[in-house]
Amino acid sequence: MKNILITGGAGFIGSNFINYILDKHNDYNIVNLDKLTYAGNLENLISSKDKKNYKFIHGDITNSELINYLFEKYELGYVINFAAESHVDRSILSSKEFVTTNVLGTNTLLDVARKFKVKKFIQISTDEVYGSLGKDGLFTEDTPLSPNSPYSSSKASADMLALANFRTYGLPVIITRCSNNYGPYQFPEKLIPLIIINALHDKKLPVYGDGKNIRDWIYVLDHCRAIELVFEKGENGEVYNIGVSTEMQNIEIVKLILNYLKKSDSLIEYVQDRLGHDRRYAIDSSKIKNALGWSPKFSFEDATIKTIDWYINNQDWWNRIISGEYMDYYKKQYKI
Ligand code: NAD
Ligand code: DAU
Repeated sequence: MKNILITGGAGFIGSNFINYILDKHNDYNIVNLDKLTYAGNLENLISSKDKKNYKFIHGDITNSELINYLFEKYELGYVINFAAESHVDRSILSSKEFVTTNVLGTNTLLDVARKFKVKKFIQISTDEVYGSLGKDGLFTEDTPLSPNSPYSSSKASADMLALANFRTYGLPVIITRCSNNYGPYQFPEKLIPLIIINALHDKKLPVYGDGKNIRDWIYVLDHCRAIELVFEKGENGEVYNIGVSTEMQNIEIVKLILNYLKKSDSLIEYVQDRLGHDRRYAIDSSKIKNALGWSPKFSFEDATIKTIDWYINNQDWWNRIISGEYMDYYKKQYKI
């Protein structure tokens, strides 16, 4: 059995990963440590919660005492760190929580992991640490880090600490850097769920700036399969980029969703641009393909339709979210 600490497993990607991995592996014991911030939701784990090899712990990755206790109690040998403050706009409003969780929290996990001599520490990072691209070029693992937002700066700091632990102490760290994910259970502050939900309500769709910023979109389960491979076969001290070369302008995504929902383009509202808005992200994922044999399974067309249908069919899930605390933030942000 592999006893794995997964942090942030009640969030979007972490919960998809746990649901995916527990369906596939009886030989994994998962301990899911999550603070349940606004972005954490145990409803995402409905298919995993009763499994005997799954345990949820409500707690904070900055809590060294708790993490020490969990390592001893559950004899943890592996860590996959998803826990983070993840939304760029929030980091622009206030960066403190980003530094606390993403930097100090990761450092705390690294310290305890070192003490207990873990066999693998996977740091889930992001392509945003590379900064912004012009019209041409792709992010490779050798692209210098040049983060622009408080969020991406905090993630880059965590990456540096993780790699320092490999180089200085030999901690078996691996870093993954993925592009923009979409799929079920994504918190409706991110572009795709926000546009779907607003469009379903015939509300305005806020498009930042000229709408021509480009992101490289990946279906969340393709990301989960890549993490699984990295966990099983990745080489210590390495960084693996993950992406599927699906570059789309934001406005193209918005129009695609409107078209599928048969709603009018008049809902689109160009609003003030995000401060420091990165223009283009695009990933070269040849390393993970060549070294580990990863390839994506989902096409953008099928997976976006699957995602829109999921939000249509799971209105209870997001209704509970948007009627709560989140709404205050949302109203402030979009002045509705
Ligand atoms: P999310 O915001 O949906 O979930 C984050 C989870 O972490 C939540 O469950 C939250 O409760 C938990 N958390 C936050 N602070 C914590 C703390 N101090 N202690 C314990 N738990 C805490 O984020 P996501 O989109 O699922 O992203 C997961 C990871 O993947 C992040 O590290 C993010 O940087 C990275 N990432 C995300 C994307 C994307 O497109 N969403 C792409 C690449 C990488
Ligand atoms: O690239 C990976 C990153 O992708 C992850 O590390 C982050 O955690 C994740 O949040 C995501 O960051 P982005 O800032 O790219 O995602 P977001 O969904 O916030 O925005 C996508 C694009 O859409 C971006 O160019 C900003 C724009 N946008 C976003 C929102 C929320 C809008 O035009 N209108 C909006 O209302």
